[in-house]
Amino acid sequence: MENYNKFMRTLLAGTVVATLSAQALADNAEPIKVGVMLPFSGIYAALGDAGRNGLKMALKEHAGELHGRQIEFIEMDTEAKPERAPEIASSLLNQHHANFIIGPVHSGVAMGMIKVLKDQDTIMIIPNAGANAATGPLCAPNIFRTSFSMWQPSYPMGQVALDSAYKRVVTMSWNYGAGRESLEGFEEAFKAGGGEIIKQIMVPFPKTEFQSYLSEIGSINPDAVFVFFAGGGAVKFVKDYDALGLKGKIPLLGSGFLTEGTTSAQGPSAEGIRTTLHYADGLDNEVNTKFRQNYQQMFGKEADIYAVQGYDAGLLIAKAVDQLGGDISDQAALIQAMESTTLLSPRGEVSFSKAHNPIQNIYLREVVDGANKVIDVPAAKLEDPARGCKL
Ligand code: BEZ
Repeated sequence: MENYNKFMRTLLAGTVVATLSAQALADNAEPIKVGVMLPFSGIYAALGDAGRNGLKMALKEHAGELHGRQIEFIEMDTEAKPERAPEIASSLLNQHHANFIIGPVHSGVAMGMIKVLKDQDTIMIIPNAGANAATGPLCAPNIFRTSFSMWQPSYPMGQVALDSAYKRVVTMSWNYGAGRESLEGFEEAFKAGGGEIIKQIMVPFPKTEFQSYLSEIGSINPDAVFVFFAGGGAVKFVKDYDALGLKGKIPLLGSGFLTEGTTSAQGPSAEGIRTTLHYADGLDNEVNTKFRQNYQQMFGKEADIYAVQGYDAGLLIAKAVDQLGGDISDQAALIQAMESTTLLSPRGEVSFSKAHNPIQNIYLREVVDGANKVIDVPAAKLEDPARGCKL
């Protein structure tokens, strides 16, 4: 009888193992579901499109590292509207059972997504939105960012402005989280070095009627103006700044979104503008050269930072899947694989902080012949302070 029981126990254990292996094999044979939550319409449509292009390009180029797993994309247009975020994120999580959710561009949308996705059984990778809280007080094991915190590209510009002997600066932005945090980052360094913000102008998002604000700046006549605008708003702002006669009179500074993916539409109005960002078109490294060539060939246009950040989200997925031999069923192992990854990004090497935000160089760039040329590296391997993150 004892022998019979032992036999049965062995048989049952064998059955469990066999069932588990069959399940693992079945899981591994399933496509990896990648939910994409980006704006494909509205003021940030071009940013969403570039992010999606970069993501798809990376996963295509690195298909060989996916151990036979196919990728299924489920794409949702956020329209850069924060109120749409919870519903779309819930649908990707609960109806589609996405393994990864990539998005968004807009910081307000990020806050809505995080409410739904924090600590859930999916991995959120933010390929743009800079809301400091995402890798600050709202940080979570399953939330990663391949872009930046709002603080990161703006803080170094405070010192650059001081080094240029600017003492009295006007700041201006759209009035929403990302804009406010961008101005705060600049102010933190600028005021600490003795600079003075003589006026802050906040414009409702996504309004692009800038003329009255620019007339006011003209009459204040500050040493310089620091702004956050992106996408269609950046195009309009830079053209209006020139058209109203401020260009060449009052230096215009910004975080680099002001001249990303926009210089061909901005034309001569963008020439000479200095910005700080974690990327520049002309970065001299092999990965960037190849990336820009392939992007141009695949999509018939120049790559920009939004394409780079989407590309790096794809790279991050591919590297983690590869490290796990294609089996991503254990979330803790997946998170650990992602945390330990160093990406060879077009922007240079990128590793992740404890809060899951990129540690990266910030470049000072100047628009020359329509391209953002590197002229200095004001902050090497800059890590966001991740204030409030308890990871
Ligand atoms: C944001 O909302 O976080 C954002 C949007 C466009 C460019 C950069 C940041």
